[in-house]
Amino acid sequence: MTQATPQAQQSFVGFMREASPYLRAHRGQTFVVYLGGDLVEAPAFPLVVQDLALLCGIGVKLVLVHGARPQIEARLTVAGVATSLVGDLRVTDSATLQEVRPAIVLVRYAVEAQFAQVAGPRQIGAPGLRVTGGNFVVARPVGVVAGTDLQFTGEARKVDTQGLRAQLERSDIVLISPLAYSPTGELFSLNALALASALAVEINACKLVLYTPEAAITDGQGVLWRQVTAPELRDLPAFKGPPAAVLDAALRACQGGVERVHLVSSAQDGALLLELFTRDGVGTLISNVPFDQRRAATIEDVGGILALIEPLEAAGVLVKRSRAKLEREIGRFEIMVRDGMTVACGAVYPYPGEQMAELACIVVHPDYRRGGFGAALLMALERQALAAGSSCVFVLTTQTTHWFQEQGYVRSALEDLPIARQALYNAQRNSVVLVKNLSPR
Ligand SMILES: CC(C)(COP(=O)(O)OP(=O)(O)OC[C@H]1O[C@@H](n2cnc3c(N)ncnc32)[C@H](O)[C@@H]1OP(=O)(O)O)[C@@H](O)C(=O)NCCC(=O)NCCS
Repeated sequence: MTQATPQAQQSFVGFMREASPYLRAHRGQTFVVYLGGDLVEAPAFPLVVQDLALLCGIGVKLVLVHGARPQIEARLTVAGVATSLVGDLRVTDSATLQEVRPAIVLVRYAVEAQFAQVAGPRQIGAPGLRVTGGNFVVARPVGVVAGTDLQFTGEARKVDTQGLRAQLERSDIVLISPLAYSPTGELFSLNALALASALAVEINACKLVLYTPEAAITDGQGVLWRQVTAPELRDLPAFKGPPAAVLDAALRACQGGVERVHLVSSAQDGALLLELFTRDGVGTLISNVPFDQRRAATIEDVGGILALIEPLEAAGVLVKRSRAKLEREIGRFEIMVRDGMTVACGAVYPYPGEQMAELACIVVHPDYRRGGFGAALLMALERQALAAGSSCVFVLTTQTTHWFQEQGYVRSALEDLPIARQALYNAQRNSVVLVKNLSPR
């Protein structure tokens, strides 16, 4: 056996330490994972299966939904069956269904075979590595779309969540193929992406993971969006990224209440592990943060911000700001509003010469804490700082050090701040300096 180099050992130790809170957090959670037919055929697929087995090993409950589009297309070509698409959906007539059925079944076998190899002879049937299936999805025809009857193309009508959960409770991996029967016994071919999204909603999954060749979303200015809320994604005017069908599946899941959708590159080895077990991830996280609106503050918002920050100023958590100062600096503030009430605020103060920015006055209304508002707001402020040319942000805090550290900030020295800010440092408050380097999001 070769001995790992000291660097490799150190990076392993660092990785395990960074991963440990996530190992705890993910245990017992349910993830729905979409595996496209192209991924199942790719040379990297055995490694993807290993990563999924690892998730099972730490107690994640896994529902896998596989696609089979390239395999279906190949079979149709060989059989000389011509088909057409309406949007992203295939028109499935009887001749097409004849080819779709075996194509999907063979992909299913390929997935099962790969899990059998990961398990090895001693572990086949062991909890966490047993792959099961079943008639958990009841189908209905999609019907007529844009004037075309899609015939045997179906969608999920009902999911036997209880039956499916029972398998997950046994620590089985549930593998769902995109074929399902209607209550009248007709077989339908389902769109696997839409099925994964619907399943995640129906079984109330914590996460939907979508493997896709392109997992990065880049906006019109070329800025990479690693984390984006569903409303932000809907409003992004122009962006490059995953296929529309993938984003559609992600947005539907968010709309249905799935907290987090992760787009994970099928081209990058270990992308799922890096996305789930490192702070910054490597894919794109689409979350459904329950806020109604996040926007730049205007002069009309001064009263709402004061109501939010005054109690904290009185308690000495925040430095006092006069109304006049707040009015002068209102352009630096971002707020989150729910039902007309300002529930969170924060400000960005750039130091363009040093490519740094201070994030300050980050407050969430006490009634709305622990709902992800703070983290979502911080992310938005970081994005603004990045857009303003800062490659690094810092905060000064007396009582919130741990929270910022959990958001990726590291303790730093006063000397690391812009000179102008050092001069304003209040030694009596003795605030902790925390810094975060921004990778383009
Ligand atoms: C810090 C603050 C902005 C976080 O907002 P939030 O919307 O509750 O944040 P999130 O929902 O993203 O995160 C909540 C998590 O952070 C933890 N947290 C909140 N405040 C914390 C603190 N001061 N230290 C350590 N952890 C803290 C919560 O316990 C919760 O974790 P848990 O659910 O595992 O217990 C909010 O608590 C706040 O307004 N605090 C008072 C103002 C303040 O201190 N601002 C910073 C000034 S620089």
